[in-house]
Amino acid sequence: MATILVTGAAGFIGSHTTDLLLAEGHRVVGIDNFRTGRRENLRDAARQSGFAFHELDVAAPGALAGLVARVHPDAIIHLAALVSVQESIANPELNFVLNVQASQFVAEAARLHRVGRVVFASSAAIYGDGVELPVREGAAKRPVSPYGAAKLASEDLLLGHAAAYGLTVRCQRYFNVFGPRQDPSSPYSGVISIFARRYAEGKPVTIFGDGRQTRDFIAVRDVAHANLLAATRPGLVSGAVNICTGRSTSLLDLAVVFGRLYPGVAAPQHAPARAGDIVHSLGAPGAAVAELGFTAQVAVADGLAELAHAPVASPSS
Ligand code: UD1
Repeated sequence: MATILVTGAAGFIGSHTTDLLLAEGHRVVGIDNFRTGRRENLRDAARQSGFAFHELDVAAPGALAGLVARVHPDAIIHLAALVSVQESIANPELNFVLNVQASQFVAEAARLHRVGRVVFASSAAIYGDGVELPVREGAAKRPVSPYGAAKLASEDLLLGHAAAYGLTVRCQRYFNVFGPRQDPSSPYSGVISIFARRYAEGKPVTIFGDGRQTRDFIAVRDVAHANLLAATRPGLVSGAVNICTGRSTSLLDLAVVFGRLYPGVAAPQHAPARAGDIVHSLGAPGAAVAELGFTAQVAVADGLAELAHAPVASPSS
């Protein structure tokens, strides 16, 4: 049993990761500042004796290091972040603070207090557009947004610390994560969460561009499992892997599946493509299989059907 500190524990990926770690018998110290995380995401975790929570801002100088000094975790899973490509374009300074500076604080806390392993929420956005698909980890990195650039800079910072100070850093390049608890209430929310809510309300969705752009959508349940493996699997060395399914889905495909789940909802509307938007994103999953023993299990259509039958999250719930 390990003690694992999870930043962004009240968030979408953070809360699922926390629940799984607890279910596997680990102790979890969760932190969140509730900028985008929500207390009710931790409702199940809060009932577990192995869970402790601290309301704390990982981007506040010294805050994380102080907690790490007291808790002495075996690993830190760093998920707290600004998660939207579009929000990084609207607010690049905030993107720097939350997606680069905070990573430095995590690296520094791990160095000072000898944390053996750091798992970092990286992104497919580091590759940018125009790479050969499915993209492998060694492909050229040409991010096309402040968000992608920040995730790449953080990988380099953390891996540099790993090489210099002997900790193990695992960078998890998430593709497009979806599932329960993804907050649909902001224009910066993930597309599936927005579509799920609109269809459930009987309202047409908006597709930016022609809808032929594609993504490798991965269920949050699978991502939580990948995080568990990266944090606890014995003998791992530092590295970066795609956390993806290797399967491609267009936005038009999504609309077809939702259309079947919600017959009678009007056809999607179209609006101009968004700046910084990648056209095609598809990952090669082989390295995660080889290094972590991870294979995604949930098919997109099954994940969407599950979402359609679950209550749709609302900002006040
Ligand atoms: C997403 C993630 C990001 C992750 C990256 C990895 C979110 C908010 N962003 O970025 O954290 O690192 O994948 O690849 O989860 N779209 C519409 N209509 C809408 C909303 C979106 O057509 O109402 C389109 C967008 O223009 C885009 C696609 O859907 O083409 C996906 O957008 P989005 O869900 O925001 O994710 P990414 O930008 O791919």
